[in-house]
Amino acid sequence: MRTLLSLHAVSRSFAARRAAFTARERLVAVRDVSLDIAEGTTFGIVGESGCGKSTLARLALGLLAPDAGRVAFDGIEVSARRDPAWRRRRRDMQMVYQSPLAALNPRRTVGDQLAEPALIHPGQARGSAQELAELVGLSADLLARFPHELSGGQRQRVVIGRALALRPRLVVCDEPVSALDVSIAAQIINLLRDLQHAERLTYLFISHDLKVVRQIAQTVGVMYLGRLVEIGPPDQVFFDPRHPYTEALVSAIPDARRASRKRILLKGDPPRPTADLAGCAFRSRCARAASRCAVEAPTLRSVDGRDVACHFPAPPVREAA
Ligand SMILES: Nc1ncnc2c1ncn2[C@@H]1O[C@H](COP(=O)(O)OP(=O)(O)O)[C@@H](O)[C@H]1O
Ligand code: SF4
Ligand SMILES: [Mg+2]
Repeated sequence: MRTLLSLHAVSRSFAARRAAFTARERLVAVRDVSLDIAEGTTFGIVGESGCGKSTLARLALGLLAPDAGRVAFDGIEVSARRDPAWRRRRRDMQMVYQSPLAALNPRRTVGDQLAEPALIHPGQARGSAQELAELVGLSADLLARFPHELSGGQRQRVVIGRALALRPRLVVCDEPVSALDVSIAAQIINLLRDLQHAERLTYLFISHDLKVVRQIAQTVGVMYLGRLVEIGPPDQVFFDPRHPYTEALVSAIPDARRASRKRILLKGDPPRPTADLAGCAFRSRCARAASRCAVEAPTLRSVDGRDVACHFPAPPVREAA
């Protein structure tokens, strides 16, 4: 299958917001991340708050430039520059955020906001606001309403409809259902899946919740402190995790926990992701950590059909009893 989006060894750091008297320090939000997304498929990213998911999303869309590495969309390097050629390509890539209320203009009707892309890019948008509403399962009588008159799920449908107005090929969804109730979230996931099928869309789908990612992704990447630590098919990651961090994430989900596996409570908080953090970034919280982990950062390597960045990956679940 053709690769639509590819990230190769991408890193991005920020100047730390610290008190003036401390030395200048850089926090690495995304560190050495590589991934490929085949056209028409979904790559899910899961990880706790602050691990770098939104930074990765912005890098993927060219809204942020990487410090190192390369991001390519359909074989062409994505840049954060604003030249006309890039702006044309930018329409092929859209974003859906967590908060539809923040993404919508409170003073304009739903119909106006769905029609807006066609006004800005005449001739390139698909049909009318009515057609877009139908595409995302909104009834036409909602077009005259304002965002605050809609439910959270309806608002997210508006945001998705607007994102699809210019017929993008890639949609980056950054926590698109995290603000919704479980049943509404499931409806939005179903909608995204149906649209993917109908429109041959490619998704980079981000969530802090592995259960949600599993419902839509063909490949899942688990992120910890800016790095991808395990990448594989969702069921393997969910039922048979091999990275100690994934093990802990999964152990908190009753559906995924096998009788032989106990809940693993992580001790402490993640360390600050400073540029000079040596060894494995997970070692301060890892029950398997050994002396090698303090000096040598693990890189991804293949373990039983998935990639794991750990010197001492967990054994298969069936042997773990
Ligand atoms: N513009 C920025 N300036 C400084 N630090 C930032 C900026 N954006 C993100 N960060 C930092 O980068 C890290 C990752 O943030 P983010 O990508 O938003 O994580 P997530 O989406 O997983 O919660 C955090 O430590 C955050 O404070
Ligand atoms: S490399 Fe070591 S510290 Fe890091 S996750 Fe593996 S065992 Fe734990
Ligand atoms: Mg985020």
